[in-house]
Amino acid sequence: MKHALKHFLNTQDWSRAELDALLAQAAAFKHDKFGDELKGRSIALVFFNPSMRTRTSFELGAFQLGAHAVVLQPGKDAWPIEFELGTVMDGDTEEHIAEVAQVLGRYVDLIGVRAFPKFVDWAVDRQDRVLNAFARYSPVPVINMETITHPCQELAHVMALQQRFGTTDLRGKKFVLTWTYHPKPLNTAVANSALTIATRMGMDVTLLCPTPEYVLDERYMGWAEQNVAENGGSLAVSHDIASAYAGADVVYAKSWGALPYFGNWEPEKPIRDQYKHFIVDEAKMALTNHGVFSHCLPLRRNVKATDAVMDSPQCIAINEAENRLHVQKAIMATLAHQ
Ligand code: CP
Repeated sequence: MKHALKHFLNTQDWSRAELDALLAQAAAFKHDKFGDELKGRSIALVFFNPSMRTRTSFELGAFQLGAHAVVLQPGKDAWPIEFELGTVMDGDTEEHIAEVAQVLGRYVDLIGVRAFPKFVDWAVDRQDRVLNAFARYSPVPVINMETITHPCQELAHVMALQQRFGTTDLRGKKFVLTWTYHPKPLNTAVANSALTIATRMGMDVTLLCPTPEYVLDERYMGWAEQNVAENGGSLAVSHDIASAYAGADVVYAKSWGALPYFGNWEPEKPIRDQYKHFIVDEAKMALTNHGVFSHCLPLRRNVKATDAVMDSPQCIAINEAENRLHVQKAIMATLAHQ
């Protein structure tokens, strides 16, 4: 009997042993950059949104393991795609995901997808329709390159923490996921992912955000609670900067829009504008346990974090970005050989 195709859509779908194996292989790829694990293979990288790190690291990672990457931007250099079922396609879309995914699957061995929310209706966006449609119709494994979660970033972050702390065991570390100001309401993907993976690793996690309206979607809060129950550690929500930072080993920053205002962002603007002081600065980092700071990047300096924090030895954001290359090579190699 043919086994079910394994995708990399969320880390929560993977066992802890499988994630540990990916991280171990990523560490090996850091030492030995080139290999033939993907010799003669290919990957389609489908981008509905811009990227610097993800595109570069996937393209080069595939090349370094002997594969070829094809980048497609539907609506720009590829036909706009329809995702609704049973729709009369008399609008702007030229072909349906049913054909796109199946045709790509005849050409390539893997498909990566980046598809951010539309920021109109969270009830719709939280279904992750684009990613799930690719997974549904694709005959080859699909990799989430950031939709409403960012699982590749999760592994890159964990790898950076393991490197900095010199251990694969992150239990007992105090991890603070702090909301930061940004002039626009951003995607919750990285925040959802940070909460998921930090609890999965058994850390003591505090979600620091301005008000209860900035707490994340119940699916990800639920995953975090489930992870604490299964792996130990703890989960707390705080709106108090000083107590959240106190004794922290890790400060991870991200900005996101408050979900109750999703699609109706005007009333959220004056609220978020009151919380510019959530910026990560030296005074806050001084409250930590000589903690490390990181961010997924891109980051607006002196809005989300100060120059002093970004340029300090405590900042591991560049290591984390480098690790995208290593972890994604591990993900591609693992999925291609299932
Ligand atoms: N962190 C991240 O995914 O970066 P890009 O948006 O540049 O790909």
